[in-house]
Amino acid sequence: MQLADNMTLYNDYLSISGVSVQALKEKYGSPLYIIDQKGFEDRVKLFQKHFKSEKFNTRIIYASKAFLCTYLSKLINQLNLAIDVVSGGELYTALNGGINPEQIYFHGNNKLLSELTYALEKGVGTIVVDNWTEYQTIQSLAEKPVRVLLRVNPGIEAHTHEYIQTAKHSSKFGLAIDDSKTNQLIQAMAADPLIDFAGLHCHIGSQVFEEKSFFKEAQVMISYASQIQSQLNLRVKELNLGGGFGVYYTDQDKPFEYKDFLKNYIRVVEETIDKEGLDLDIVSIEPGRSLINDFGTTIYDIGIIKPMPNYQDFIFIDGGMGDNPRPSLYGANYEAAIDGKITQKPYQTYSIAGKCCESSDVLIKRIDLPQAVPHDTLVVPRTGSYTYSMSSNYNKIPRPAVVFVKDGQDLLVIERESYEDLLRNEVTTNENIL
Ligand code: LLP
Repeated sequence: MQLADNMTLYNDYLSISGVSVQALKEKYGSPLYIIDQKGFEDRVKLFQKHFKSEKFNTRIIYASKAFLCTYLSKLINQLNLAIDVVSGGELYTALNGGINPEQIYFHGNNKLLSELTYALEKGVGTIVVDNWTEYQTIQSLAEKPVRVLLRVNPGIEAHTHEYIQTAKHSSKFGLAIDDSKTNQLIQAMAADPLIDFAGLHCHIGSQVFEEKSFFKEAQVMISYASQIQSQLNLRVKELNLGGGFGVYYTDQDKPFEYKDFLKNYIRVVEETIDKEGLDLDIVSIEPGRSLINDFGTTIYDIGIIKPMPNYQDFIFIDGGMGDNPRPSLYGANYEAAIDGKITQKPYQTYSIAGKCCESSDVLIKRIDLPQAVPHDTLVVPRTGSYTYSMSSNYNKIPRPAVVFVKDGQDLLVIERESYEDLLRNEVTTNENIL
């Protein structure tokens, strides 16, 4: 297992940001999500520092679908990060943490009337419009000009899992830039006194490793923006290029150096706007995974170790696809280690499986580990994104707690669910059966 930033070992036991994993397990139980706050803050600052230009303002917008809770919203506020939300629930959580509504970008291909009403009522800064019908709904609700970006699809195929690829021509998101109806919508919005048409948004996919795909995206988008300006005689003020920057899960993943990438990204944008004669006010990006994934670690208690005839014994853990559905959904891979034996030589190949009644509930299909015994702690690093946010109560298993750590201190920010929580919405006062 490759240690992440702020992870240290003492006698083969792991500490994260100065807090021992064993102490956290004892205090909060398992499974447990641990977030290294300092790591997250430093990563955000790195993005803010290097995605900067003299020619235009830049904005880093955190894609909150990766992970969001009220506490993180407070940090986002402190860090002066903007935020992308895709539902009324994410919006509520952001507002609950005190995020300035001006800093919120509201995304989604099927925003509900209730969600749009809520967003306008709260003064959300920017709505990222996906289609004509949504524009008409906003227009019918607006009492004063609503700032919007239009989500367009530049048709770039990024190399990533099919389910997390979003800018293919068949994608459900946005409108194709080569469809004449897209220009008609832009024209209609720009002419509408209730709409402040601010610019364009696109997002080519998630967990993308090819820098070239992002550069190409920027070039295509800038040339499209300049085409709109000249053909429709209106100004594109903001260009939001989305997120999707790949991260390390296993040695199969080769993420780029963010610092160099961001500088080069800015350079490509600057050169292309110069070439196209475009004058932008803001260029924004929307990373989720690359800001938080490295800084989340999930720990589990090892239960039964089941010998298998093929010698690939099972390690059963006290969590699984409920707290991390990514392996069963996307075939995602993770590294792992046993706390207290982190640098020990492997003893055998295991499969790590969860406790759900589902054959696909296998967190790691094959992994070489030192000998595991019941009540060892399995550590799965780099689980900060799309785990808690995608978790479920399948098999009525309560969601784990979330704890943040920084400089030797820990803070519980989401409690472990109880059995009562599982029945929270059930109407149990009915005396009779229908
Ligand atoms: N902006 C938009 C409009 C998006 O749709 C997404 C991700 C992002 C930004 C952030 O992408 P990131 O930087 O986190 O890659 N559940 C999948 C990932 C789905 C991503 C959806 N959209 C997974 O677990 O891999």
